[in-house]
Amino acid sequence: IALLIITIIAAYLLGSIPSSVWYGIGYFGIDVRKHGSGNAGATNTFRVLGKRAGTIVMLIDVMKGWTATCLASMLFYMGAIAETDILMYKIIFGVIAIVGHIFPVFVGFKGGKGIATLLGMVLAIHPELAAMSITIFLLTLIASQFVSLSSILATLAFPVLSLLGVFGQPETLLVIFGFVMFVLVVITHQKNIVRLLNGNESRVNIFARSKS
Ligand code: G3P
Repeated sequence: IALLIITIIAAYLLGSIPSSVWYGIGYFGIDVRKHGSGNAGATNTFRVLGKRAGTIVMLIDVMKGWTATCLASMLFYMGAIAETDILMYKIIFGVIAIVGHIFPVFVGFKGGKGIATLLGMVLAIHPELAAMSITIFLLTLIASQFVSLSSILATLAFPVLSLLGVFGQPETLLVIFGFVMFVLVVITHQKNIVRLLNGNESRVNIFARSKS
């Protein structure tokens, strides 16, 4: 149980690493939370500090989710959890990392919306479904130029495709997890949804030249 508690704290601290805030302040002297959408995430870093900074932040945030999720495999190899429980612990540690990303202890609990960290997590849990979600994300982004809409639809695609049994028998745990994540993402994107409905959400052109 002590090992479990330490791992939960580790997953939270990992998710809490505010890559966009630290990279922005450390490298550019700019807090991304004071510019653009005000969000401490890869999209806003891309928007405020350019393509290279956005990509670096995205990769770090994806790695946070992936690594936290893989802590479950580590516990299994240490003999601390049973093989049948690995998926459940992957979900627990991954979700805790996402919570850390949204409420990071290092920068006053004002973090991001969880998308990149969620992506890292689903890549570790179900790479095929993750690839389908990434496809939906990219198609929506190219068609609409709204990262928020693309994030919401890609998150919804995960449990829906899982439920439809696209990659074999749907796993109840995975489907429930997917829908809970969808609800969480809708909550973290509330302001984006209002802006989308009002027609004033900012667009991101991934093909445009950027400052870095
Ligand atoms: O991943 C966050 C994205 O979906 C929206 O970010 O900065 O446009 O609110 P932003």
